[in-house]
Amino acid sequence: MKKILAALLLTALAIPAAMADSPTEVRTQSFKKILRAFEPMGMVVRDRDPYNKDAFIKQADTLKQLSAEPFNHFPQGSIDGKSRAKPEIWSQPAKFQSAKDNFLKSVNDLSSTARSGDLAAIKKSYGVVAQSCKACHDSFRGPER
Ligand code: HEC
Repeated sequence: MKKILAALLLTALAIPAAMADSPTEVRTQSFKKILRAFEPMGMVVRDRDPYNKDAFIKQADTLKQLSAEPFNHFPQGSIDGKSRAKPEIWSQPAKFQSAKDNFLKSVNDLSSTARSGDLAAIKKSYGVVAQSCKACHDSFRGPER
């Protein structure tokens, strides 16, 4: 009986570990959340959707809340079959860190600019964020596979 209980307990403990998502999946989901927060602002910035100051502030703040999250999921060398992460993330850590810092700063700036209600300034700030996504992707994200 004891043995069975122990076996059951071990199985119960083993299941969550086996089902846990890989770092690649976790950070990809996290980046996708960022994209979903970022896109609606892009619609406003491209004059496709009407500008509403309060709604835009909320969106910018959501982006800010989400923005640091994916970077908690880049353990050394974590590249699996699906990952687009490049080895340079770990071989050029200072450069990766600075791409990340630029991004976080640009997201902060966007959230401040959103409060000004100055749409021209907001468009500029949004562009800086978009540029910081691209700069990091150009150096540290490989082709889709
Ligand atoms: C400092 C680096 C860095 C910044 C900044 C960054 N990304 Fe990424 N992003 C990556 C890396 C690396 C991956 C690939 C992760 C993997 O596949 O393991 C990635 C993956 C993604 C993915 C997952 C799907 C895919 O294409 O691989 C999306 C969506 C994404 N990024 C959107 C964005 C957006 C939008 C921004 C800016 C608002 C942004 N990223 C900023 C490094 C960055």
